[in-house]
Formats: sequence, C-alpha cells, structure tokens
Amino acid sequence: MNSNDPHARAQLAQRAWQHFRAGTTDLASATLEVPLAAYTDADRYAHEVSRVFLQRPLPWALGLELPRPGDYLAREYLGRPVLLTRQPDGSVQAFLNVCRHRGAVLCPSGRGHQSRFTCPYHAWTYDAAGRLVGVYGSASFGDFDRDQRGLTRLPCVERAGLVWVVLTPGLELDIDGWLGGMGPLLESLNLGALHLFEQRELAGSGWKATLDGYLEIYHHNSVHQGTVGPHTVGNLLVHDTFGPHQRLTIARPTLDEVSDPAQLAADPDRYVRLVHSVFPNLSISGIVGGLLLVGQVFPGPTPDRTVTLQSILCPSPPQEDAELEAVRQFSAMTLQAVRDEDYAIVGRVQAALHSGANQTFLIGRNEPAIQHYHRWVSELSA
Ligand code: FES
Ligand SMILES: [Fe+2]
Repeated sequence: MNSNDPHARAQLAQRAWQHFRAGTTDLASATLEVPLAAYTDADRYAHEVSRVFLQRPLPWALGLELPRPGDYLAREYLGRPVLLTRQPDGSVQAFLNVCRHRGAVLCPSGRGHQSRFTCPYHAWTYDAAGRLVGVYGSASFGDFDRDQRGLTRLPCVERAGLVWVVLTPGLELDIDGWLGGMGPLLESLNLGALHLFEQRELAGSGWKATLDGYLEIYHHNSVHQGTVGPHTVGNLLVHDTFGPHQRLTIARPTLDEVSDPAQLAADPDRYVRLVHSVFPNLSISGIVGGLLLVGQVFPGPTPDRTVTLQSILCPSPPQEDAELEAVRQFSAMTLQAVRDEDYAIVGRVQAALHSGANQTFLIGRNEPAIQHYHRWVSELSA
C-alpha cells in the first residue's frame, strides 16, 4: 500500500478515526521486558552495532546532498569516514575516505563539487572514481601497482532519493530485498524532488534510549505540550510493519471534527501524519503540511552517546517571505521538540541507567513499534 496513494491514506485515517472514537490504539499482544543490558552493556553494544549498522544497508545521505555529476559528500559516523561521489552517469559511488598510502582521512567532511581529491599528508591524489591518479615524488617513492591502491570501495546504491551504503567492504547490498514493502512507500515520498532547506547535528544519549523515543506516541501529551503535542493525539498509534521497518500513523486532533468517516477521504492529510521508520536509524516525519523532518541517528563510540543528523525538507525553495517564515518556524519547532524535549528527557533516562533502579524496562502493549525494533535488533544480532 503506497502511503502517497489517497485511498491508502484515507484507510489509515479511518483506522486512526476508529481509535480516536473508541479511545484505543494499535497494541502489541503483550508487554515486553527488555533487560537493561540491552542499553548498557559495552560488549553487547559493540556486537549489535557491528551486526546492525556495519553489515546492513544504511541510509547514509540524501541524494539531494550531491545532486549533480561531479558533486561529492564526505561524512563520518560510526568511525567510518565515507566519501560519496556522483559519477558522470549520475550514479553514486561510495569509498572509505581514507588514503591508501598511510591512512590519512582524505577529504574533510562537507560537500562540494570537485573531480580530484588530494591527501593532506603526502599529496597522493585520487579521482572521483577512486583511482589513484597522482603520487607526489613518485620517482623516489618506488614502484608499486597503482591499480591496487585506489580508494577502498563500499557497496552503495541510490534508491528512493536516499544513498544507501554498507559500511563493510565486499558485502552484498540487496536494497530491494532489504526494504521489502517499505521500498515503494519510500519511493512515494519523492524525496529526490524536494528541497533540502537546512541540516544540523544533535548530540544525544545512547542509541536505544534515543531510538525508543522515535517509536511511540505515548509521550506526546506529557513531553510535547509546547510543540508537536497540539498537532497530535497522544497515545494513539496506527502501526504497520514491513520486515524490520515500520510506518507510524499519528492521529491529529482534527479527527474530532469527523462524525462520518466518509469525510476522511476528501483530505486524509488533515487527519493523520505519517512517520516512516527505516530500520535501524532513519525516521522521516511529515508533521506539518508538505514539510518533512528527516532524522538519522548514529551510535557513538560508547553506548551512552549518539549523533543525530537532522534534515529539513520542503517541496521547493521558499520564494515568498511568508513561505520562508513557515519553513523556518517548522524547523525551529522540530529542533525544540527533538533537542529540548525528546533528547532532554532521554538524557534523564541515560543519567539513571546505571542507578540500579531497574533490571529491565517494561515496554507497553501501546508501544508496539519499540517492541518490534528491539526484537529485530536481537534477531539480526543473533
Ligand atoms: S597518507 Fe595520504 S599521501 Fe601519505
Ligand atoms: Fe517525541
């Protein structure tokens, strides 16, 4: 079911409306106890990060970040500096952004347009296809096979406006198999046709404590009163899964206007908002109008830290002042909601994780998406 298909959206709105009228929500079959070690154990963390983040397709960038042939993007998360380059044929290639002489990071983090990358250490030079094309002082360096010293390639493909990378060289990348039913839903968002308005990084608490907050609506009334709370119905979730991936349909208080469900079909977006949650770390939220908040959460070097890359997308570059102001306000509201509300409260969770108060966390039946997420982490780490 395509999320952009009005009929499909109307069905989602109808499911939300039924819950709204009944005061119910989609439920897991039982509560789930998650041992605290899932959040705190350093060995488990290293193992799970390796299995889940380093060995699976990871959404690494928006295609919009390097739109033209000759564009590049250098970015480092999970201890993996990665260089993306858009080739003359429009495809994107990914390399470890590490020199093959003695290992300096080649290109500073950022994006731009260039066809040659020169190492800051001894000035070896690579082209956008990763070939070693220049060796400074080659007459004195000695003979070697330059073809064996190109940049180390990572599996990479662009799909649904996102650039997917596997951070381990040589592994398979079957993006269609990985995305399954989530693939068409992502395609329907048309991310590649949108405008990248703004991007920023947020420091956050540990991976799972942070991710849990993206996967339930239970906290909306208590945490988000000043931001997204008034736009959403707390503790009402319409939940769909696609392998490890999930769609969260969030109800809007406008459902209160509806007495006949036939009304929903005319403008389903008035009544629900969709969050596409791509395992293990991407959340695409349509909270207001055609504006999107894209969040990518990357585990840090220790279990208590993450970095989140937030991107604000709008349909096209704002032309009028009023349009610009609306996107700015959306951006400011999402920053406040995520940094000052979600991440602030998760910081209080993180601060007490080692207090000894809990041996397990109890995940409610009304938090099915968190349950689904933890089960998939376990499954893929087994
Ligand atoms: S480490 Fe890059 S040229 Fe020496
Ligand atoms: Fe939240």
